Amino acid sequence: MNAIRTAMIVLACCAASLTLAQGLPQDPPELTGPTPQPMEPIPAAPLERYVTDDVRQMRAYPEQPPIIPHSIEGYQLSVNANRCLSCHKRENSLGTGAPMISITHFMTREGQMLADVSPRRYFCTQCHVPQADTEALVKNTFTDMADMGTETAGDQ
Ligand code: HEC
Ligand code: HEC
Repeated sequence: MNAIRTAMIVLACCAASLTLAQGLPQDPPELTGPTPQPMEPIPAAPLERYVTDDVRQMRAYPEQPPIIPHSIEGYQLSVNANRCLSCHKRENSLGTGAPMISITHFMTREGQMLADVSPRRYFCTQCHVPQADTEALVKNTFTDMADMGTETAGDQ
């Protein structure tokens, strides 16, 4: 029994150090704050301003959740109230001018279509976020497929 437990601990330690040793392609910014006193309280930097110009942005790839081009300040999003749906649900979209949530938002995990928004799509900000015009925390080399020499349908 004890031998098994020791073996398991050794295994767990190996796995942990392996994961650490592999590291990341680029280390993310540290969360501990500035050195030499990492835990010292420092004034927080002002929050970035969100882009709220109401201009819908092109998606970087077809399945990207479109970003939110308007302010969502103070919009309630709870089990009882969903301010987003008050504009974006099908029944209200014509009057509010908001694009209707797409067909995938009515679909259950099994592909069953529902009459109303699917519970897994209820908390909109799980996927949709506003954008701030700021420097990326972690650099990336994302390239649009269309810029990689692929031919797209209907080009000629
Ligand atoms: C008062 C009505 C209203 C509310 C409330 C609202 N929206 Fe919008 N939304 C719009 C309108 C109108 C647009 C079209 C662009 C614009 O005018 O800003 C839009 C655009 C969007 C888009 C961009 C769609 C695209 O195809 O580019 C997303 C995503 C979005 N809203 C998500 C949300 C989320 C998430 C919430 C809740 C946190 C929310 N909206 C609350 C009216 C609303
Ligand atoms: C699990 C992630 C997820 C959640 C939660 C979610 N969405 Fe989306 N949404 C997406 C994705 C991905 C797309 C683009 C592909 C598609 O239409 O499914 C999208 C597309 C949209 C669009 C554009 C529709 C169009 O036809 O151009 C709107 C508007 C939108 N969502 C609003 C909402 C609102 C409002 C909520 C909350 C009630 C919500 N979404 C919840 C992932 C999500």
